[in-house]
Amino acid sequence: MEKSWLGLEDKAVIVTGGAAGIGRRIASVLSKCGADVVISDLQVEEGQMLDGMYCIPCDVSKKDSVRQMTEKVVKRYGRIDALVNNAGVLRPQLLVDLYGGGEEHEIDEKSFDFMVNVNMKGVMFCSQAVAKQQLKQGGGVIVNISSESGMEGSVGQSIYAGTKSAVNSMTRSWAKELGGKNIRVVGIAPGIMEKTDMRTEEYNEALAYTRGLKPEQLSEDYSSSIPLGRAGKLEEIGYLTAFLISDKADYITGTVLNITGGKSRG
Ligand SMILES: NC(=O)c1ccc[n+]([C@@H]2O[C@H](COP(=O)([O-])OP(=O)(O)OC[C@H]3O[C@@H](n4cnc5c(N)ncnc54)[C@H](O)[C@@H]3O)[C@@H](O)[C@H]2O)c1
Repeated sequence: MEKSWLGLEDKAVIVTGGAAGIGRRIASVLSKCGADVVISDLQVEEGQMLDGMYCIPCDVSKKDSVRQMTEKVVKRYGRIDALVNNAGVLRPQLLVDLYGGGEEHEIDEKSFDFMVNVNMKGVMFCSQAVAKQQLKQGGGVIVNISSESGMEGSVGQSIYAGTKSAVNSMTRSWAKELGGKNIRVVGIAPGIMEKTDMRTEEYNEALAYTRGLKPEQLSEDYSSSIPLGRAGKLEEIGYLTAFLISDKADYITGTVLNITGGKSRG
């Protein structure tokens, strides 16, 4: 079969958190480009197929779970050409309550650990397991889904933004460690995107509170705040990921690309 311009046919790719939201759309775009995509997520069953993509359950914050998942991928496909570290969580809270609502609106140890465990430790466990395989096979790509807030900071999202800053830093360091072994490590920092499951009613209420607003006052009019005047489409993250994992991006590593419609303040 003749390969397409991107040449993703037969590349084995893991998308963590690929059952919903941005991850699901990244997985679909990669699959449409011909890649063998494994969706790895908390909310899938072993061997379940989602739009033709094979699923393996995994909790990225648990080392054993990650090890078992990557072993299964290697057993099935023989290699792991790319890992997309997409699974991530966000709990909006303030450092100190500013509006009289009480301590429930302040960062607590439980939510701190929750975000750090998934967003930072999860990225580390998955990257470590996959990089070991990529060393054996002579190369590969790791794409870390970060956030614009990790570059700029964001009201009510300090710990989340902190984890994403850490992801950006790990991206640059691992690119330096692994470049000589033909393993590229790249970050993608989305800005405001179309609604995903992350933005539940509870999330909207908590986020609005941190900004001194009612949930209904959270504006969805981006005509003045985003130069391109709209939220990003989820598949737009997929197209960038497809390019970055392809051989066409062979000279791109150790950098984090903003995909924000030109917005640069979190
Ligand atoms: N939605 C946005 O506007 C936005 C903006 C910037 C960055 N991001 C980043 O994009 C990524 C995806 O966000 P989303 O909005 O699609 O989220 P989402 O909540 O819609 O989906 C996240 C997926 O990750 C899975 N997941 C959560 N914890 C997991 C764990 N421990 N192990 C395995 N899977 C787990 C969930 O089951 C879910 O399927 C995250 O890293 C997020 O920080 C999102």
